[in-house]
Amino acid sequence: MLKSIELFNDGRRRWIFLGRDPKKPDTLIDSNQYIIMEGDKATLLDPGGLEIFPSMIAGVSREVEIENVESIMASHQDPDIVSSLSMWFSVQDKLSVYAPWVWSSFIPHFGGAREVKAIPDEGMILPLGSSRDLQLIPCHYCHSSGHFTLYDPRAKILFSSDIGAALVPADHEIFVQDFKAMPQYMEAFHKRWMPSNRAKNAWIQRVRQLDIEMMVPQHGCIFRGEDVQRFLDWFEALQVGSAVDGITAGIAETAEAAL
Ligand SMILES: [Fe+2]
Ligand SMILES: [Fe+2]
Repeated sequence: MLKSIELFNDGRRRWIFLGRDPKKPDTLIDSNQYIIMEGDKATLLDPGGLEIFPSMIAGVSREVEIENVESIMASHQDPDIVSSLSMWFSVQDKLSVYAPWVWSSFIPHFGGAREVKAIPDEGMILPLGSSRDLQLIPCHYCHSSGHFTLYDPRAKILFSSDIGAALVPADHEIFVQDFKAMPQYMEAFHKRWMPSNRAKNAWIQRVRQLDIEMMVPQHGCIFRGEDVQRFLDWFEALQVGSAVDGITAGIAETAEAAL
């Protein structure tokens, strides 16, 4: 069963974390899923891959009537983000799917064949129930070429998608306890998956303007309070895209050896 943690509740808006399924096969990268609720209506942020759909539908049903799940937000096109799409449509056919416009004709390949509501490059407000305050904030090329994070000014939570991802052991705690222990799980991922320092720094500049109490990524651990700023400082100093040097050198060596 997926662990479920309520991250915020002001009586109307709720955030729920779902993740760390002990039954997840080791062949799958672990992913974190989030429900945002406004009254009895819900949206799912990156609801995950096909393989975890049975655990997800069980976890989501504990919190909300499935017919009240209004939408899915796919931050980008990866299978761990939204390859479960056709299954969600099979249980709630009135769903809206929001995704970056560059992926809006690729994501329907996961099945369900419904129209995707295309998020423009500059971002937009994600409607939920009667609320109009959830901001989709661009993070293109961090790592995907069409990619969004989401900020909730009421909960002061930033959903950071693959930014801040940490490939931690299966039984690792969910909240960051000691930031110094995190880079070992984050560094290689960000260096390889994030191609552009310019894109990375543009996103950092954008989110530094926000009042953030919690940063919740799609893999790994949740950053709270000071750890959010610690992460932004660490990310700013990191030279991303730098894995390319080692990889290119490695390929050249292998090619030479093969000659
Ligand atoms: Fe991804
Ligand atoms: Fe991911």
